[in-house]
Amino acid sequence: MSQSFQFPDGFLWGSATSAYQIEGSPDADGAGHSIWHRFMNTPGLSAAPGEDGSVACDHYRRFKDDIAMMKRLGLQAYRFSINWGRVQPDGTGRVNDKGLDFYKALVDGLQEAGIEPLATLYHWDLPVALDDRGGWLNRDIAGWFADYAEIMYRALDGQVTKWATLNEPWVVTDGGYLHGALAPGHKNMFEAPIASHNLMLAHGAAVDAYRATGRHEIGLVVNLEPKYPASESEADRAAVRRADAYMNRQYLDPALLGEYPAEMKEIFGEAWPDWAAEDFDRIKRPLDFIGVNYYTRNVTRHDETSWPLRASPVRQTGATYTETGWEVFPQGLTDTLMWVKERYGNPTVYITENGAAFYDPPVAENGRVQDPLRQSYYRSHIKAVGDAIAQGADIRGYMAWSLMDNLEWSLGYSKRFGIVHVDFETQTRTPKDSAKQYSRIIETNGACLYDGSLD
Ligand code: BGC
Repeated sequence: MSQSFQFPDGFLWGSATSAYQIEGSPDADGAGHSIWHRFMNTPGLSAAPGEDGSVACDHYRRFKDDIAMMKRLGLQAYRFSINWGRVQPDGTGRVNDKGLDFYKALVDGLQEAGIEPLATLYHWDLPVALDDRGGWLNRDIAGWFADYAEIMYRALDGQVTKWATLNEPWVVTDGGYLHGALAPGHKNMFEAPIASHNLMLAHGAAVDAYRATGRHEIGLVVNLEPKYPASESEADRAAVRRADAYMNRQYLDPALLGEYPAEMKEIFGEAWPDWAAEDFDRIKRPLDFIGVNYYTRNVTRHDETSWPLRASPVRQTGATYTETGWEVFPQGLTDTLMWVKERYGNPTVYITENGAAFYDPPVAENGRVQDPLRQSYYRSHIKAVGDAIAQGADIRGYMAWSLMDNLEWSLGYSKRFGIVHVDFETQTRTPKDSAKQYSRIIETNGACLYDGSLD
């Protein structure tokens, strides 16, 4: 990349979190519990027994300090999610004003600090009251979700200019309904397609509700992971097609093209229903942007023993892997963004998550947390975004995952993704070196990555 590359004017630099991972106070002010709280507290389900989101980063009580910290870091935007059960403890009907007030105060505080709020309506924490009625397996959830979304639009659309319906529907179904590693912990090949489809119907219904009420922008957030063949064999290339359809096209194709990839039937066999054609009119609604979450790539090989994809990842010798076992591969981000541009007609994209868990040393006596691997991850990946912009992709912003160390779902607090270190005993926040580097990137609108002044 040439020395003269510049991120576009107005490119939005921020960081991201989600409700259950940081808020704590799951019972406060009349909130209803979510499936995540239930999952973490059911013996045998979570991989981190004894840990849950009861306290997390205590953000529910410390949000004002956290906003002040974001301001000190120079963040221009903050992507957060709303815990549905705080607002509607039963998932439908009655609104809990105190829960709503929390998000109003958060958004007011962000606005006062000059930080643009990006709100995600669903980042995995379904109210238990709805799970008891079938959760994502109940087709009525599209209407429940649209009603909840409308409550939020009416309350916050004056200040929130970017909304996302769902965060990573693939993770919701793959982890929650197919493999059981995430809430609600089901392991059922026949449920997963239904959950996927109902997620998409809910997405479409929430977009329609937004068009009736909202005045700004709404989109869908997906996690994308490019798949590269382990060899040129036809079997490996077919495995790549299946893996790519399953993870990358399963949600974007219906949302943007109005159909599921043909490979879905090949993957799920008789468990993949023939969906009613009119459902796709409900799912494919005009979107203002796509949110892309990117962490890693996958080199994929054919593998008969891997259910149901018949495809497995191949570990790359000599590559750097993060603490969550993900290969560091920045070129994959450029490739992904160019793929989105080509396949879907250059939609407006925000990078809504990108980051890495690495082992961090304890906070040093001088208050420093040195995290060179994370610094390097950010430098290379932000440049990878620059490469895609230089090739014509319409990318408007970048959100680092995550603002601070938090609950990494079923892995508990062991994996640290923050640019800010959190001491979970004292709740002390300490910006890591990567946060300081990010402040400088923001201050120079990315120029310091190219002019040598970061080195
Ligand atoms: C999720 C985050 C999660 C991150 C790292 C994404 O899949 O949206 O909630 O913490 O990846 O695993």
